[in-house]
Amino acid sequence: MTELATHTEVAATLHPIAVTVNGQDRAAAVEPRMLLVHFIRESLGLTGTHIGCDTSGCGACTVLVNDVPMKSCAMFAVQANGAEITTVEGLERGGQLHPIQQAFSEEHGLQCGFCTPGMMLTSIALLAENPSPSNEDVRWALSGQICRCTGYQNIVKAVQRAGELMKEGS
Ligand code: FES
Ligand code: FES
Repeated sequence: MTELATHTEVAATLHPIAVTVNGQDRAAAVEPRMLLVHFIRESLGLTGTHIGCDTSGCGACTVLVNDVPMKSCAMFAVQANGAEITTVEGLERGGQLHPIQQAFSEEHGLQCGFCTPGMMLTSIALLAENPSPSNEDVRWALSGQICRCTGYQNIVKAVQRAGELMKEGS
């Protein structure tokens, strides 16, 4: 067997993974090269996680992995084994919008919406650490998220409004 054949054989080996996605246990066998974003979109059918660049630049693919925002195009699915993953589909509960969704709606924090899932999930992590972020805090936290439409003003307002809604609800 040639060295090339050995590498091909290794690449084709499937690895079992088990993750919790939006509160549901999911198990699958994946190629080691499969990106987390492709696992989420293609294997799980959760297409609210977007692909804007595939090179870790835009943030459209951001999900929460154990409550930490991660660009899922920059991570292999096997690296998420055992993790709790939250995608945008997991935010609404029983017909009730999550406060971050409510706030983006109230403050018109989106236009085309392509960047919005990543914006919201990253904002949730920010608000968990800092419930009353300043304008600069929000802009710093969202500096890895690119929006081509809004000019960011209303996104910042939406994140701050979400912090208020969360305090009112707690
Ligand atoms: S698709 Fe992942 S950062 Fe752009
Ligand atoms: S709303 Fe269109 S990219 Fe942000």
